[in-house]
Amino acid sequence: MSIIKSLVNPQSESFIVNRDFYLDRITDLRERRQRAHLGGPEKARKRHTEHREQILPRDRIRLLVDPGSPFFELGELAGDKLPEGTAAGASIITGVGLVNDRQCMIIVNDATVKGGTYYPMTCKKHVRAQMFAIQHRLPCITMVQSGGAFLPEQEGIFPAEGMFGSIFVNQIEMSAAGIPQIALVMGSSTAGGAYIPALCDEVVIVRGKGFMYLGGPQLVEAATGEQVGHEELGGAEMHCSVSGVTDYIAEDDAHGLSLVRDIVSNLGNLPKQRWDVAKSVAPLYPIDEIYGIINKDTKIPTSNRDILARLVDGSNFDEFKAKYGSTLMCGFAKIHGFEIGILANDGVLFSEAAKKGAHFINLCCERDIPLLFMADVPGFMVGEEAERGGIAKDGAKFITAMCSAKVPKYTLITGGSYGAGYLAMCGRPFKPTAMLAWPSGRSGIMGPEQVANTLATVREDILKREGKSWTEEEREEFKAPHRKRFEDSEQAYNFASKLWYDAVIDPSETREVLALLLDVAGRSPKIETKFGVFRQ
Ligand code: COA
Repeated sequence: MSIIKSLVNPQSESFIVNRDFYLDRITDLRERRQRAHLGGPEKARKRHTEHREQILPRDRIRLLVDPGSPFFELGELAGDKLPEGTAAGASIITGVGLVNDRQCMIIVNDATVKGGTYYPMTCKKHVRAQMFAIQHRLPCITMVQSGGAFLPEQEGIFPAEGMFGSIFVNQIEMSAAGIPQIALVMGSSTAGGAYIPALCDEVVIVRGKGFMYLGGPQLVEAATGEQVGHEELGGAEMHCSVSGVTDYIAEDDAHGLSLVRDIVSNLGNLPKQRWDVAKSVAPLYPIDEIYGIINKDTKIPTSNRDILARLVDGSNFDEFKAKYGSTLMCGFAKIHGFEIGILANDGVLFSEAAKKGAHFINLCCERDIPLLFMADVPGFMVGEEAERGGIAKDGAKFITAMCSAKVPKYTLITGGSYGAGYLAMCGRPFKPTAMLAWPSGRSGIMGPEQVANTLATVREDILKREGKSWTEEEREEFKAPHRKRFEDSEQAYNFASKLWYDAVIDPSETREVLALLLDVAGRSPKIETKFGVFRQ
């Protein structure tokens, strides 16, 4: 047992200033979530509830999951403020919820946003949810009410891998892998919206509301001259009694949701947890003190040790090689009773830190212990001494170990995470099981000031070559837009809107979110790790 002693003084002036600043960030996060949760415009929501007498997407989820159980949303803020005008949430809700005690991936079209059609980001979000389901062997429940492709954006939806067609590919792969898929057709489901349920194992359709067809009545008339109504073309009665495309008729939304719960109860044995889970113990320090520990001035580094003291059970962190490579803290801890191997930055990554990280990842893979990368890192050390010491080969060892590790890997961006440091701390390209960020998280190739300086230096060299020069004011004028662009780009919300992060979370939610993710991961089979060559 090694209990972390944290000497932070919550009464100090700087703590209070930082905490208030962070609380504003939390308010901002809540407002962004509220906006995303709203769905489409009021007119569309009213039409949905009053005119069609349907239940709104988030209420459908609430009725489906076990009462009081949590729902962890993937891509909650995806699409927010994207140039193509995608609504926050990208007209689809995806997340993990408990249905009859079984964790399921729940995917719900939001018909109040452009008829539930698929923007490019909607496709990406649906595909990401499926990948998470495949990785964890989670049954998929899809509530379908979609006009198919959002036609003006067809180039981002139709032609390539990762777009709409990949949803079908994943469905077929899931089916072959024995992962159950259930669809509930709740509204008009056209074209791609009809193929999704058609590729599921069991399909429920709501009478008088759910319709499934490859082309709706208007398209059929235009194409063939045939005049046919919605019910005859793709209604519940026809599909359940004539075509056999759907299997169960629901009388309304609520009935449909209860039929889906029944189907889930017939999926066989519940997957067992493969890890021993200890009794959860609260950290010795209040978790919301993290708000006051992260300095509002991004140039002032945060002590990850003080953060860990507020995150892990009993503030107990059994540190590995504490005196070696100290800019990367590695150690074993528990979160709500789940054992986890933590790698947390404490400065620039030197050779020793990289070698220690590789060693620690190796240990965790041998013991089937999941990994948490807490990223707040300016990058790897540069300079003659570092190069002569072989930083390139040691960094490569770390990256090889991190990339090869097949234990569940979670990334939490807590502060500024830049360059190869962002990548090495299990950045998005290295396929973390889930990628999370706090509102203070920032990522980029370099910090905004460094980018502006680098580009100004390049320009200055060109000017010199041409026998010209510039004034200090001209230099600053050149730098300002670059700095601003990178300041905007590095924000957690930009990364979340593009789905490079799965979620932006409040630091005080971190323990619950990680425990849920670990519980899901522990119910899927262990995958053996095979490491590649470690250059010595
Ligand atoms: N592409 C782009 N926009 C679409 C769309 C599509 N496929 N389908 C609907 N929309 C837009 C509408 O233009 C409208 O936009 P607005 O809010 O800016 O006015 C919004 O979505 C809602 O459409 P509306 O028809 O008013 O809603 P609804 O709930 O009555 O009907 C649908 C929804 C999806 C059933 C209906 O719009 C429809 O049949 N769309 C065409 C479906 C289709 O043929 N898809 C083939 C794609 S491969």
